[in-house]
Amino acid sequence: METTENWFTSWFNTPYYHILYKHRNDEDAQFFMRNITSYLALAPTSHIADVPCGKGRHSVYLNSLGYTVSGGDLSPNSIAHAKQFENDHLHFEVWDMRKTIEHRYDAIFNLFTSFGYFEDDTDDIRVLENFKNGLKSNGVLVVDFLNVVKVKNELVSSEVKEIDGIQFRITRSIKEGFIVKTIAFEAEGKQHAYEERVKFLDLEKMKFYFEQAGLTITKIFGNYALDSFDPTTSDRLIIVAE
Ligand SMILES: C[S@@+](CC[C@H](N)C(=O)[O-])C[C@H]1O[C@@H](n2cnc3c(N)ncnc32)[C@H](O)[C@@H]1O
Repeated sequence: METTENWFTSWFNTPYYHILYKHRNDEDAQFFMRNITSYLALAPTSHIADVPCGKGRHSVYLNSLGYTVSGGDLSPNSIAHAKQFENDHLHFEVWDMRKTIEHRYDAIFNLFTSFGYFEDDTDDIRVLENFKNGLKSNGVLVVDFLNVVKVKNELVSSEVKEIDGIQFRITRSIKEGFIVKTIAFEAEGKQHAYEERVKFLDLEKMKFYFEQAGLTITKIFGNYALDSFDPTTSDRLIIVAE
């Protein structure tokens, strides 16, 4: 069995993470990118940072819309994959969002539940501070998080998903302020066990974090169509701040 100290360092760097999530809806992601860039009225010359970018699916699409994009992720394997898409206006690098950002961007996008990974609140707040300091004076931050209240109300506590011949045995629970998902499976002759831990951050707690980081929330959306946020029915909690 593999054990993990930092679940997000190991799990996201495996090929199995990408297999389990291969059915995520890229059409939705692109629909969201079109809607949010048009809502933000970003100038065509804007430089956007997409952190963490995973294998670069949003970065590549944003670049195809004409923006200059820097994608960063902690996973060396994901960045190695994304690098094949690089061009003069699209770059990828291994990037730890806990580290200070040197460059200043017109916009920083933190997409698809890429926040709330750390045990200590101050680490999550530091990530937001880093994002704030990485923005130009009129820059904008977008954090696309899950709606924890809806997740809690609709929690499927256990299921088996078979993808590419692998049976992923999944459990979900809410424990000590985290939404915890365990993922166990056999692949390549070995037993594997991983865990995802995303902090139970409702709007109130998010507001507190943003305030602590010195960010002003300007808009809150509840889905990729940019409808208003409803605490019980919305799929997403999308926060725009400056
Ligand atoms: C749920 S995935 C989303 C990735 C991407 N935004 C997408 O939509 O495909 C979360 C990503 O966060 C990355 N990650 C985790 N901790 C990180 C950190 N401290 N700094 C930068 N990236 C991190 C993981 O490697 C993983 O690719």
